[in-house]
Formats: sequence, C-alpha cells, structure tokens
Amino acid sequence: MNIIVADYSGFCFGVKNAVSTVYKTTNDKGGRIYTYGPIIHNSTVVNELEQKGIIALPSIEDLKENDTVIIRSHGVSKEVIGTLRDKKVDIVDATCPYVEYIHKKVEEYYNKNYQIIIVGDPAHPEVHGINGWCDNSAVIVNSEEEINNLPKYPKICVVSQTTMNSDKWALMVPLILKISKEIIVFNTICTATEQRQKSAEEIAKKSDSLIVLGGYNSSNTKKLVEICKKYCDKTYHIETINEMDVEKIKNVKTLGITAGASTPDWIIKEAIDKMSDLTNINEENNEQNIMDEY
Ligand code: F3S
Repeated sequence: MNIIVADYSGFCFGVKNAVSTVYKTTNDKGGRIYTYGPIIHNSTVVNELEQKGIIALPSIEDLKENDTVIIRSHGVSKEVIGTLRDKKVDIVDATCPYVEYIHKKVEEYYNKNYQIIIVGDPAHPEVHGINGWCDNSAVIVNSEEEINNLPKYPKICVVSQTTMNSDKWALMVPLILKISKEIIVFNTICTATEQRQKSAEEIAKKSDSLIVLGGYNSSNTKKLVEICKKYCDKTYHIETINEMDVEKIKNVKTLGITAGASTPDWIIKEAIDKMSDLTNINEENNEQNIMDEY
C-alpha cells in the first residue's frame, strides 16, 4: 500500500495558538480557568484538558470575579466581551487574527450603513460571533437558493466564514452582485483553509481510498470530507485511526490521509504509523504465502 499524506493538514496557525494559549494559561495562572466553548472541535484534546481541570464554561452566570475565561479561535460577539468585562473576569483572548479581521470589517461597514451579508453556516459559533459585531443584523446565507430569495439592498458588505468551501463561495458571490448596486466583498476564507482544501483535493484525485481525521463537529473537517468525496468515493471521516475498520482499506493500492485544522499532529502520526504497520504486515503475509507456495 502506498500512503500519501496531504501537504497541508492538521492544526492551523489559529488553532495551534489557541491550544498553546490554554496550556500556557494553565501554567501561569491559578484559580478557575474556563474556555468559552470547547477550545477546539476535537474531543480527544478537549477530554485531555478536562482532566487538567480546564472545562468549557457551562454558563456566564456561573462566573465569579477573577475567574479566567479563554476565548477560542472562533472569536465571540462584542456583547459577550462586554458581559465578561462586567463580570470582572480575566479575559485571555485567543481569537484567530483572521477572524478578528472579519469582526473589524463588519463593524466598520455596519457603522457606514451597509447591510452585512455573511456567507456561512448560521449555526456555527464563528458566524454567531461575527454577527455580533453588527448588532446581530447580518443576513446569513449558506446556499445559492438563499441568495436568490433575498430582497434588494442599497449597500452590501459581504464576508465569508473562514472555513467556507472556496468553490461554493466562488459560485455564490456573483449571485450577490445582482441584489445591490453598491457592494464590497471581502474574501475572508483563511489561507490555512484554502491550503487544506486544495491539498485534500490533490490527494483525493490520486487515492483509491482516503481517511479524513477530525472532530465530527468540526466545520472545516466536514468541508474536507465533502471535497474528498467528490474525487474519491471511499472517503472515511474518523476522529482517530482506532475508529477505522481497517478491513475496508487494507487492500487498497493508494491510501490518502488528511486532517482538519483542529487535529493534533500526534493523531495524524498515529494514523500513518498504524497504516504503515498494516502495510508491512500485509507484505510479510504475502511473502509468506509466496514462500508457502514453493
Ligand atoms: Fe484561524 Fe483559519 Fe485556523 S481562521 S483558526 S487559521 S482555520
């Protein structure tokens, strides 16, 4: 079996920063430390942090003065920041700079009376956060059909969720051009997302079967799965290699491996090692069978 690993896979810069911020905060500070939501969409990492006593904040009401709250890479709304300040907690902000850029643009153009349109998943926390920088007035669209149903607006400012599928974005933006005369578009799909999507596509085209490692709730991982399935129907989304039924892939010629932006390197390495071991065992068995024939 030939194993190919995507050039860009696993932890992106923003997630790496958020996770190391959590570990650093744990070492530097005492008292109660919470993350505002699970720090990343990866239950293995979240469980490990829980064992160290760092949990996702159950409710803002539970906070006491001098507690510490770490804001994850997805960012939060302006209102949440205000509430945390009112509670006099220590805020450690690990919002990804790419997301922070979107907050600034949305706030700026909202103040200039532009209708904000966010292209992305309305249920995703990053999108909730972005909407909170224009007083929750954004129109959120996630399909071409939703855009076609929009009314006309005098002025529009368009941004995308950072993990948006770039092919889908390219199809949706021209449709938005029809609903206003004055439009400003910020392509805010982040470079890390584009790189991961591109290299997933590249290996999917060469693979007979493909493993995508990443949290089941991870938006960027789900998009990688979507892209890979287009080119390789035997694509499997798993969180760790231990979940894989190796019977399904042990005889494939070329196996691709990629991982979402919230998958730690050790999970990728574990998958590569396990599949390489399986290849060696298969080769040894084949050799043994040949020897037996003689
Ligand atoms: Fe930031 Fe992009 Fe990662 S927005 S958190 S670098 S996927």
